[in-house]
Amino acid sequence: MFYICQMANQEDVFKKVISHAKEYGYVFQSSEIYDGLSAVYDYGQNGAELKKNIREYWWQAMTQLHDNIVGIDAAIFMHPTTWKASGHVDAFNDPLIDNKDSKKRYRADVLVEDYVAKIEAKIDKEVSKAAKRFGADFDKEQFVATNGRVLGYQEKIDTILKRLGKSLENEDLADVKALIEELEIACPLSGSKNWTDVKQFNLMFGTKLGASADSAMDLYLRPETAQGIFVNFLNVQKTGRMKLPFGIAQTGKAFRNEIVARQFIFRMREFEQMEMQYFIKPGTQKEWYDAWKEKRLNWHLSLGMGQDNYRFHDHEKLAHYADAACDIEFKFPFGFKELEGIHSRTDFDLSSHEKYSGKKLQYFDPEENKSYVPYVLETSIGLDRMFLAVFSNSLQEEELDNGSTRTVLKLPAVLAPTKAAVLPLLKRDGLPELAQKLVDELKWDFKVAYDEKDAVGRRYRRQDANGTPFCITVDHQSLEDNTVTIRHRDSMEQERVPMDQVKGIISKAVDIRYWLQKI
Ligand code: GAP
Repeated sequence: MFYICQMANQEDVFKKVISHAKEYGYVFQSSEIYDGLSAVYDYGQNGAELKKNIREYWWQAMTQLHDNIVGIDAAIFMHPTTWKASGHVDAFNDPLIDNKDSKKRYRADVLVEDYVAKIEAKIDKEVSKAAKRFGADFDKEQFVATNGRVLGYQEKIDTILKRLGKSLENEDLADVKALIEELEIACPLSGSKNWTDVKQFNLMFGTKLGASADSAMDLYLRPETAQGIFVNFLNVQKTGRMKLPFGIAQTGKAFRNEIVARQFIFRMREFEQMEMQYFIKPGTQKEWYDAWKEKRLNWHLSLGMGQDNYRFHDHEKLAHYADAACDIEFKFPFGFKELEGIHSRTDFDLSSHEKYSGKKLQYFDPEENKSYVPYVLETSIGLDRMFLAVFSNSLQEEELDNGSTRTVLKLPAVLAPTKAAVLPLLKRDGLPELAQKLVDELKWDFKVAYDEKDAVGRRYRRQDANGTPFCITVDHQSLEDNTVTIRHRDSMEQERVPMDQVKGIISKAVDIRYWLQKI
């Protein structure tokens, strides 16, 4: 038996996540030898593998399991008019506010949302107190719907969010400031309530194409990958002879000049998105919106990271292109936050590109015998954010029966960077040679490690902390009967198996089919 230790508080958990990511070669601060670059990160030897595996898990779910979804890889640089048409030049802004005393800059909406999160934490506290009091009879739904204190908190949250949504939608920045002042929100750093007015700030990074100063063209680094899909809509539809409904998927880098860039890889200035635009018949958007909400949640649940860690959050303020939108939120170490967005984008993007380019972007519907601009349902997830969700959820400290603790990274086996480590019990008697032979066999199918340094117990711990699902130990008995022990990371159980069965055991556990079939 072992127990999961409770780490002191959310902040400690998050610090542990960051330091573990660095110590085990998952994530490094970018340009660290020059003291780093704010909100820019590099993935190390294990991080790059984990990221690749997450990307692959998404890509296969989209393009392989749907015969009407295809993938593309569009350039990061796009014609500058793209961003005029998409609305990003005029509307891709964050409302910013400065604290006059600390000189720190914040996103005004985030200050209010953080205030709301504190009220939500009070609700959670009431719920857990009541759960303790009533024991097995506790009915959470009924308690939340009837308890006076909880209802009061909820009403306050609803009023604040409604007002924030309305002010942002109407671009009433004076009211956003008034709300911050009425709620007496203080600068988290200095405690001061001395705020400037709220101003809009465009998040796109500008750059130039061309050598000479006068002929160079002003470009933007793409702030979302989606536009590369929209401008290629007809190319793909025609060359792939695609019929509605069909989807185009893409993964790739996006760039945003985030002002409040904190929380490690949660909010970065250079990040990767995995987006899919699903082109549909106008009028069917509600049906597809519901269908994709369900599909995407199931994709997340297939990884087995706990149903309670996800929730939907409907957008109060709709983006300029959407008629309905929600987030799939995940319980990060700092609370529930957006992991993925699902947006019903109407025909906004294709119609706008038609207008700005002067080219028709329409679909001829043979059933209706007419052409029209399709509607679009988008699913958009940040790969780095998904990485953080997987990594932070997997990192656990366990207290073992013998009183010791172990740090274990319980990554879903399908995503783990290294699937197995092969360990000769001793560095002599032909054991390293036999272990190396096993590595040479397995490496054609999986990424495997060989480790002969230190006592075997320490090597197990090292692989646990690294997230390796299996350790295979070669000992003297292996020389006699060709069997090895295979140790399972999560249960720490060991079994003796014939060496030629090792590949099958690992395959079964890491096979993408086994995981994705749960969708
Ligand atoms: N094409 C729609 C779009 O870009 P979004 O809600 O702005 O929508 C989609 O972004 C997803 O991209 C988010 O749910 C998040 O996972 C990720 N994302 C957005 N900004 C990010 C940032 N600065 N750092 C890391 N991930 C980010």
